[in-house]
Amino acid sequence: MATLQSKSAASHTSRWFLAMAAGFLLAGVAHGQTKNSCLECHSILTDNLGVTEEKFSQDIHAQKGLTCASCHGGDATSDDPEVAMGKKAGFKGKITRAQIPQLCGSCHSDPAVMRKYNPSLRTDQLSQYHTSIHGKRLATGDTKVAVCVDCHSVHDIRPPNDPRSTVYPLNVPATCSRCHSDAERMKAYKIPTNQFAEYKKSVHHQALTVRGDLSAPTCVTCHGNHGATPPGSSSVAAVCSTCHVFQAQLFDSSPHKSAFASAGLPGCVTCHSNHGIQHPTDAMIGTDDKSVCGQCHTEGDPGFVAANSIREHLAQLAAAIDRSDQILSKAERSGMEVSQARLDLVQTRDTLTKARVTIHSVNVARVQQDIQPGLVAADKNYEAGKDALKERNYRRYGLGLSLIAIALVITGLRMYLKQIESGQDSQTT
Ligand code: HEC
Ligand code: HEC
Ligand code: HEC
Ligand code: HEC
Ligand code: HEC
Ligand code: HEC
Ligand code: HEC
Ligand code: HEC
Ligand code: HEC
Repeated sequence: MATLQSKSAASHTSRWFLAMAAGFLLAGVAHGQTKNSCLECHSILTDNLGVTEEKFSQDIHAQKGLTCASCHGGDATSDDPEVAMGKKAGFKGKITRAQIPQLCGSCHSDPAVMRKYNPSLRTDQLSQYHTSIHGKRLATGDTKVAVCVDCHSVHDIRPPNDPRSTVYPLNVPATCSRCHSDAERMKAYKIPTNQFAEYKKSVHHQALTVRGDLSAPTCVTCHGNHGATPPGSSSVAAVCSTCHVFQAQLFDSSPHKSAFASAGLPGCVTCHSNHGIQHPTDAMIGTDDKSVCGQCHTEGDPGFVAANSIREHLAQLAAAIDRSDQILSKAERSGMEVSQARLDLVQTRDTLTKARVTIHSVNVARVQQDIQPGLVAADKNYEAGKDALKERNYRRYGLGLSLIAIALVITGLRMYLKQIESGQDSQTT
């Protein structure tokens, strides 16, 4: 005990010595404007004590006129560290991880404070945070979870719509994965650390990063910014329906809705997974190894029969569309005008797309209702192609005939000319 005390007393003395020295160094520097002795000292300190003006000027709090003392307390007008960082001036000392949410929340959950700056800014971050796994675990003393600064950074906090912000949609996955992809850090919790790796392969990541579609979900769209599920969704798994409305309506009308619920299975995620969602194909339907239906339905049960039937219907329409596509391409290559039929084929494809949505009802009759008009339309597209080729053949035939006629006339003329020439020859000799 005694050694511990003397050790900390020694380090305390040396830290204050360091502070005095830094203060001395800066004694003559930068007066005028609004004095910020904190920055003057801390911009020349290193490691976690260093805070540069360059960095802090990027911080939304600095931009709104807040200072170091707004968060840390202390007196920024004094070069004397005993005063600047003194108890009298309300200096808080080290802010531990466990204290951070309360500190940030001291302003952010106070509508009276925030309204003065930005009335439209929400003030529920701290209360939301308390409902999240992060917040709940922190309350039990686990400081390995995310606190405000892990997601927002510190001393260069930016609004979420700034592309350089750690919480800008494109940067969110990297921010979360600093912990969630760190197997060592997450070892104690026995949860997977593959969420980012999986998400990177998903249609959503693709839409977000390749097409720049900011409406595609990132980690926080599904899990909630502050870790709770978003309002209106009873669970994270239900969040899909906020964007994929039609599939959700059909799923809700299907026998799976109650069957999955009573088996404790999530809805969409059971068939699509959560993080590594892939572009679905017709191969997912049916009863073979590649299908999802075959994982639960076995030979002879009504689901098994329906799965195969739906797959057949889709395949039939897909084949009909292919056939029409091929004949139209052939017609185009031979210079026939089939642009109307092409346009119609696009519409026919839409019926197939619609059917692929309707499959979420797992109702064969409903799928058939989409397929049937598609098949009729595809046949019409095919006939249009066939007619065009017939027309081409007819023209070719006509062209052939006229070429033969022309050739005959030319040969006739030649022979006639030859005759005349030979007649003249015999006359002159
Ligand atoms: C004269 C230079 C100087 C001034 C002025 C100064 N600091 Fe410090 N500060 C230091 C040094 C050196 C340390 C590290 C030694 C220590 O922990 O006491 C430090 C430590 C800190 C710490 C970490 C405390 C801990 O216990 O880990 C914070 C936070 C801090 N300063 C904030 C401020 C704020 C806010 C101001 C302005 C109100 C300020 N400082 C003014 C030099 C200064
Ligand atoms: C919006 C609130 C806020 C403002 C403004 C702010 N800080 Fe901090 N600062 C924090 C928080 C929170 C931490 C703890 C970060 C952590 O533990 O990761 C911290 C940490 C520090 C530390 C490191 C302490 C340690 O022991 O690791 C220093 C030094 C410090 N701040 C100095 C400053 C200075 C100097 C300024 C002004 C230029 C400033 N801070 C402005 C919130 C703020
Ligand atoms: C002293 C009060 C105060 C404290 C403490 C505080 N903030 Fe702020 N914060 C503000 C004010 C004021 C704004 C500016 C709001 C505006 O005008 O948009 C702001 C803005 C923000 C924004 C940008 C919001 C936006 O969309 O514009 C974020 C993010 C933020 N703070 C996070 C934090 C975090 C994280 C902490 C704790 C480390 C913290 N704040 C501590 C007062 C505070
Ligand atoms: C797990 C990561 C995470 C943690 C922890 C976290 N935030 Fe956020 N926060 C976000 C994300 C992501 C956004 C951006 C939301 C968006 O794009 O609109 C955000 C947005 C904000 C905003 C802007 C206004 C808003 O609500 O959209 C403020 C202010 C804010 N957070 C403060 C805090 C405070 C205070 C804490 C601690 C109590 C905190 N955050 C903890 C991730 C986090
Ligand atoms: C500072 C590290 C850290 C950061 C950053 C972080 N987390 Fe966490 N997160 C944790 C820890 C530790 C747990 C606790 C694991 C547990 O209890 O299973 C956790 C738990 C979770 C859980 C609950 C997991 C479960 O047990 O079911 C979710 C969901 C989650 N985090 C999402 C996010 C998202 C989304 C982000 C980014 C916006 C994020 N986290 C950022 C450390 C972090
Ligand atoms: C499209 C929605 C969606 C996106 C995007 C998403 N998640 Fe999830 N996540 C889920 C669902 C659904 C679960 C399963 C939750 C449940 O069963 O309650 C889950 C589970 C988790 C878990 C618990 C452990 C596990 O793997 O089952 C963590 C941690 C997690 N996600 C973190 C993340 C991180 C980090 C990101 C971003 C890289 C992310 N999630 C992106 C929907 C999503
Ligand atoms: C914030 C909105 C949003 C949420 C939440 C969301 N998605 Fe998506 N989803 C999109 C966007 C945007 C695309 C890309 C659209 C596209 O490719 O046509 C997409 C694409 C998809 C695709 C691929 C579609 C295709 O034709 O390739 C599937 C499957 C999918 N999402 C399933 C899910 C599931 C399952 C969930 C819940 C775990 C979910 N989505 C949550 C917006 C969302
Ligand atoms: C029983 C398994 C199953 C469930 C549950 C399920 N899907 Fe699907 N989903 C599929 C199959 C199979 C396809 C592929 C259709 C095709 O391409 O032939 C698909 C395709 C999709 C597509 C892309 C094609 C389209 O436009 O519809 C999206 C988006 C989608 N599902 C979202 C969802 C959402 C959201 C939920 C939850 C409301 C959900 N799915 C539930 C099996 C399922
Ligand atoms: C996670 C397991 C699971 C998957 C995957 C699954 N089902 Fe089901 N399905 C069920 C359960 C459970 C029921 C409730 C009736 C039962 O026990 O057969 C059901 C019921 C059905 C029914 C109603 C049967 C009846 O009794 O009228 C049809 C049709 C059906 N499923 C088709 C499909 C199709 C098509 C797919 C693939 C796109 C699929 N299912 C994927 C578990 C599943």
